[in-house]
Amino acid sequence: MVKQKLKKYRRWSKKQIAEFLSIFVLNLLVMAGILVGSIFLNGIGYNAVEPDFTEYFATMGGQFAYLIIILVLIMAVTFVYLIFENRGKIREVRDVEMLFLIIELTLLCNYFAGRYINIYFRPLALGGLLTLLLINRRSAVFVTIVTSLLTFLMDVFTNANYAATVSPNAQYSSLVIGFSTGIIAVYLIDGVGARIKVFGRGVITSVPVLVCLVLLEQTNLISHWERAVAGASSGILAVVLFMAILPLFEWLFKKLTNYRLAELTEHSAPLIRRMIEEAPGTFNHSIVVSNLAESCATAIGEDALLARCAAYYHDMGKLRQPEFFKENQQDSRNPHNDLTPELSANIVRAHAKDGYDIVKKYGLPQEIADICLQHHGTMPMMFFYAKAKQFKDGGDVDVEKYCYAGPKPQTKIAAIMMIADAGEAAVRSLKDRSREKVDALIQKLINERMQLRQFEDCDITMKELTIIRNTIVNNLTGVYHSRIEYPKVNLEEIKAEEAE
Ligand SMILES: [Fe+2]
Ligand SMILES: [Fe+2]
Repeated sequence: MVKQKLKKYRRWSKKQIAEFLSIFVLNLLVMAGILVGSIFLNGIGYNAVEPDFTEYFATMGGQFAYLIIILVLIMAVTFVYLIFENRGKIREVRDVEMLFLIIELTLLCNYFAGRYINIYFRPLALGGLLTLLLINRRSAVFVTIVTSLLTFLMDVFTNANYAATVSPNAQYSSLVIGFSTGIIAVYLIDGVGARIKVFGRGVITSVPVLVCLVLLEQTNLISHWERAVAGASSGILAVVLFMAILPLFEWLFKKLTNYRLAELTEHSAPLIRRMIEEAPGTFNHSIVVSNLAESCATAIGEDALLARCAAYYHDMGKLRQPEFFKENQQDSRNPHNDLTPELSANIVRAHAKDGYDIVKKYGLPQEIADICLQHHGTMPMMFFYAKAKQFKDGGDVDVEKYCYAGPKPQTKIAAIMMIADAGEAAVRSLKDRSREKVDALIQKLINERMQLRQFEDCDITMKELTIIRNTIVNNLTGVYHSRIEYPKVNLEEIKAEEAE
């Protein structure tokens, strides 16, 4: 196991390792700066109990050394965790920098809210929430633990006397409050929802603050109403800051969040609007594929919103020449009738690369652009290949000239897209859409793609392919169900029977 992890580690170049280490040292200095800065701010006349800045270093120099040692240890553990435990999600130096920045920002917000407003008003869940949306839940739980520990460390070393004046247990309860509020927030506010719902859940994340106030610090919430109000609103502060800061991080670190994905699937999004106007047939196809892809992603535990969004954009390349694609032809003449099969194949093949270019040009995320390029893999266009063979009276035709350019799907979501896309188009042209026929067709599509090794670059399993097949069959038999023939009713006959 250890060997395996070290092997992964070696895949980084020396330059990357040097970059990771410099990020670590830089952030260690920033964090130490925040702690020293908070000691300095506490020293400038907050209250008589606080030692001033020079007094602190004269009398508590030894404690300061402890503070730095603990800080180095916490930062080192954080760094090791980010490097070894989360390689799937954290691939670049900027991801590590982003996480350190989230931790530092949360610490600063906690300090200023606690120092200048009320110690119970701190937005302790902020770091966890930002990490949840920008990376994943696992990292969010870890960041919550780290920010709780660092806030506690700051309380102990820089705010000790103040905390003691509030209550003898205040210091320790801050650790419990930070941890529980953060974890509750990470599990409650987990996706896109109406803002009011997010705020409502923000209020619930304040519950641990009130519980600790009563149980650990034995505070009378009526006589100390200001603490109760501050504690009850701390969750809302965390949510407000989270909503305000998230777009900044999305832009700064080019991250794709659920909020951004939801914006991109609105019909008013610029490219979607263009598709509705210029290629309505492709738009309808994309809507059905998006429902299939979303269900499949949910069924195998992948990002459902990303799958949905990628499906909306997967055929965006067809905007260049929409009339060359069946779904946009309706009753008009098929322009391929006037072209050689090779030219037709070139036009159809280009929609994958054109989609990539157009999506990048509109500033959409790389994940979506990649799916445009990969959704047909290196599959052959059998219709044009067969037509070319016919032209040559069954003679030799280079099949390579009739294949998509690839690459093959690199992720599970790209593989889902490949199957859902082909499945929707094939089932649409099927006359008998009974469950058995649809099931057989989807199975055939998957088998063909497996034989042509389309899934070899993504780590999808046989079990997941079976789940995808079943999900698509369930969905498509629901969409294209055959009409039930109702027996004809003769009202006159019924009336006559009743009269007898
Ligand atoms: Fe396509
Ligand atoms: Fe498609």
